[in-house]
Amino acid sequence: MKILVVGSGGREHAMVWKLAQSPRKLALYCAPGNAGIESLATCVPIKADDITALKTFVMSEKIDLTVVGPEAPLALGIVDEFRQSKLKIFGPTKGAARIEASKVFSKEIMSRANILTAKAQSFDRVAPALAYLDQHEVPVVVKADGLAQGKGVVVAATREEAKQAVRDSMEQAVFGQAGQRVLIEQFLDGEELTVMAFTDGLTVVPMLPAQDHKRVGDGDTGPNTGGMGAYCPAPIGSTALCTQVTRQILYPAVEALSRMGCPFQGVLYAGLMIVNGMPYVLEFNARMGDPETQVVLPLLKTDLLEVMEAVVEHRLDQLTVDWHDETAVCVVMTSEGYPGAYQTGRAIHGLPTTTEGTTMVFHAGTTRTGTEVVTAGGRVLGITGRGKTLEVAQAEAYRVTQSIVFEGAHYRTDIAHRAFSHHA
Ligand code: AMP
Ligand code: GLY
Repeated sequence: MKILVVGSGGREHAMVWKLAQSPRKLALYCAPGNAGIESLATCVPIKADDITALKTFVMSEKIDLTVVGPEAPLALGIVDEFRQSKLKIFGPTKGAARIEASKVFSKEIMSRANILTAKAQSFDRVAPALAYLDQHEVPVVVKADGLAQGKGVVVAATREEAKQAVRDSMEQAVFGQAGQRVLIEQFLDGEELTVMAFTDGLTVVPMLPAQDHKRVGDGDTGPNTGGMGAYCPAPIGSTALCTQVTRQILYPAVEALSRMGCPFQGVLYAGLMIVNGMPYVLEFNARMGDPETQVVLPLLKTDLLEVMEAVVEHRLDQLTVDWHDETAVCVVMTSEGYPGAYQTGRAIHGLPTTTEGTTMVFHAGTTRTGTEVVTAGGRVLGITGRGKTLEVAQAEAYRVTQSIVFEGAHYRTDIAHRAFSHHA
């Protein structure tokens, strides 16, 4: 069986790595992939959002299943395009992916489905947005409506900061078209949690709860990034809370999407804030999280291909999805300057060659030049450690992280810190 994974980040490396463990005989391809993925799959130099070229490749290579990693091709309608040509693909349609691609649409779904979320107001002109801020208490959250690689959210401590965020987004267009409409949202004070779920549009199978670290610096300081690390399972995601999230958030969202004529198939990601024990939705994503995937998939016992096929064939209700009774911690190494401007092309030394045993080095922004692996993005590597306890998994992840060197490398030294404060 031939499988193509679309994307080039740490998430896609983890997906390819997990698919490669399938007991079935698979030929794996990845477009465009990276220097780590190429040890497990044939990398094809087609960009993740070049739907026409991807479709031509899938037809000529007779690929049996395409799995979409990132949001951009989903928002562009890769699934609709492939289905029209009767090609099997894992992921939601363009209509369903709006739950991530438009924060305004996402709020509409939540309001129809009675899902708890922060109060928000949307604006497509600057003056009313600034006037609204004059009346709003602080802190307050300003969000670009569209896709901004996890960087379109500013949690503003002062009104002036919030106004600047509105101007940057709408006048300076720092997020391009994605920021021409903004949401001004009530600040929620609590602890964050990610619950992702496989769904075929009818059945929802939640994965283990994880926690991402969005701020660039130790102690959750500095600007938001795509994600600096993650751990799983997050102790705050108790069995009772995850059941509540499944019943009160995931099922209602999936059902509301179906009722609106855009049934969701693939992975639905709920980004939550737990406030006084109650889960509020901060955002939905229409795909697996990065770096959450790098800690969740290593704990999945069931063959990922079996799960994906059950989703595509609408028979998820007939599958039991099992998990290892273990923990995982992922530390992301980034380029100096990220999430701002950064340089690439820096040689990476000390890279372990395998992703076996208790640590896995998932590549994100890497490429090969000759015999050297060099940096090629903001997030460069995600090092996952596995172990019976989070302490062990964390020690494993940092042991390997410390042995990898490139100029300007940055990583947080406190990934999983919140889990330990729960034990205290
Ligand atoms: P989002 O992309 O919507 O998940 O937002 C990125 C990050 O901004 C989240 O992970 C939170 O840390 C923070 N954030 C977003 N919305 C809120 C909110 N309403 N209250 C507090 N923090 C928020
Ligand atoms: N880790 C956050 C995201 O994937 O959007």
